[in-house]
Amino acid sequence: MDEAHDLECGNVKVKQNSRNLTDVAPRVTAGSRFPEGFLWGVSTAAHQVEGGNDNNQWAAWEQAGRIKSGDRSGKACDWWNNAERDFDLAQEMGINALRLSVEWSRIEPREGRYDALAVRRYRQMLEALHQRGIQPMVCLHHFTHPLWFEQRGAFLGGGAADLFGRFVRHVVSALGDLCQHWVTFNEPNVYATLGYVLGEFPPGRRGQILTAVALVNALARAHTQAYRAIHELQPQAQVGWAHNFVVFQPARPGARRDRWVTGLVNELFNESFLRLIELGKLVFPLSLASGDLTEVKGACDFVGLNVYSRFHVAFDARIASQMFARVFVPPHVPQGDHGVEQPYGEAYPAAIRVAVERVARIGKPIYVLENGVPDADDRIRPWLIVNVVQELDRLIQAGQDIRGYFHWTLTDNFEWSEGWKLRFGLVALDPKTQQRTVRNSGRLYGAIARGNCISPEMVNQYFPAGIELTPD
Ligand code: FCB
Repeated sequence: MDEAHDLECGNVKVKQNSRNLTDVAPRVTAGSRFPEGFLWGVSTAAHQVEGGNDNNQWAAWEQAGRIKSGDRSGKACDWWNNAERDFDLAQEMGINALRLSVEWSRIEPREGRYDALAVRRYRQMLEALHQRGIQPMVCLHHFTHPLWFEQRGAFLGGGAADLFGRFVRHVVSALGDLCQHWVTFNEPNVYATLGYVLGEFPPGRRGQILTAVALVNALARAHTQAYRAIHELQPQAQVGWAHNFVVFQPARPGARRDRWVTGLVNELFNESFLRLIELGKLVFPLSLASGDLTEVKGACDFVGLNVYSRFHVAFDARIASQMFARVFVPPHVPQGDHGVEQPYGEAYPAAIRVAVERVARIGKPIYVLENGVPDADDRIRPWLIVNVVQELDRLIQAGQDIRGYFHWTLTDNFEWSEGWKLRFGLVALDPKTQQRTVRNSGRLYGAIARGNCISPEMVNQYFPAGIELTPD
């Protein structure tokens, strides 16, 4: 499989008259074998899969009716009782890594009180993964934390970094023999933006841009404290965080105001946490809102990237609360299923390249820790996977140090403010019956993982005929 093959992907229906679609027209080129030990993983998060989580701020948010679809996470994928059923599926597919998170509200249900049974269950899960030849990667904060911590002001409250650090020490002491790779925080930028600017995540504030910046700073401090604590306990550990990276593009590239507002959104969303890690400070004038953050500089062993979409950005004088930025998805671009109120985003495989080239400046290994598309009918997920894997291949050939790719997600799960409306799984789930059905994209991804490469044969076998890239 060392020589490159070209395959015309003739069975993909592409609107020939659409400029945007011909830009992404899938000419499938199979590349070389991936490096030995490359991780082909899937990503999950505790609240989205475990079920029965009722002691964190997301459970309260659900109870308050704040999920757009009105759904509750309920049993989710029932992992607290039977994660092993999905681990079996992952093993059958040939996946060799799985990212999961531990639920702080289970491990420390009341301040300073730890639940040994909860820790034991996580040990069982990690052991079950190892038994199946699957390497775990553990995230310590994936959007949720205990109600008692939320009531103290969460990460903006006094002593937050110490409280989080104490929890991290507890977890790493208990699970460190079963895990080498730790993700401190999932997507500080998403938590800050959706929680304090757009109001879609708890605590549901809108337009509080300075508070969002303060939260990013606080999370960077807590991350750094956790990074140090993990290394004290486990010197060989690999510690990073998961950074959500969105490609923002000026809606009218010739319009200066669109370009200006796109730069602003990019700076706040994509750049702020990255700059703290890279330089230990934000750019002016955001630097005015942060104190001395030099301790944050260089505090990671790898960068985790969560990359999904591209959005267009237009200046709109009516929305000062969102920095005058109208962020939208134009029609006729490849996209998955719509959320309750708006499109999820443009499915844009080249986003991986933009993101990798940016974070490579930090000079650390890179793991793609999330990438996927909401797609209940598996219309475009195979297309996305093929194009993204080829993008990764080209980047690695060009010398980028990418160590793994984790697809979001293994089994359809509870999708935060969209509830059960969006289906991201390689495996379809009926949450009522808990019945699972492996999607075609799951078979395709499994073949790639098992082969540690992508070949024209795999693409032929699993790429469905008549993929429709546009919604209708
Ligand atoms: C990411 C989240 C993950 C999941 C995917 C679709 O932003 O980290 O939990 O919701 O989006």
